[in-house]
Amino acid sequence: MPTIHVTGRDGEEKAVTVDSGMSAMEAIRDNGFDELLALCGGCCSCATCHVHVAEDWKAKLPAMSEDEDDLLESSDHRNEFSRLSCQIELSDDMDGLKLRIAEED
Ligand code: FES
Repeated sequence: MPTIHVTGRDGEEKAVTVDSGMSAMEAIRDNGFDELLALCGGCCSCATCHVHVAEDWKAKLPAMSEDEDDLLESSDHRNEFSRLSCQIELSDDMDGLKLRIAEED
């Protein structure tokens, strides 16, 4: 059961403990962050689950798919730490992952 640390758009950080196998999007959405719209429900087709991962976590996450990369291109707030949270499957070795919900496009 990894614990991840989520910072909302208001700057408030919250620690969230979830079951392995959940996506980071589900973990965020199910724990009171209403600003993460996740409109497509995790199908990698909306980019409204955009987050920025902490610098020291960037290299530890699985590489992004071409679809994720293409979708992130549509965001004005993309940077080198951008990921779609629905594409990050949480596992025990992601305990301590830190991410911040990206600004809304
Ligand atoms: S929820 Fe739509 S791309 Fe992640």
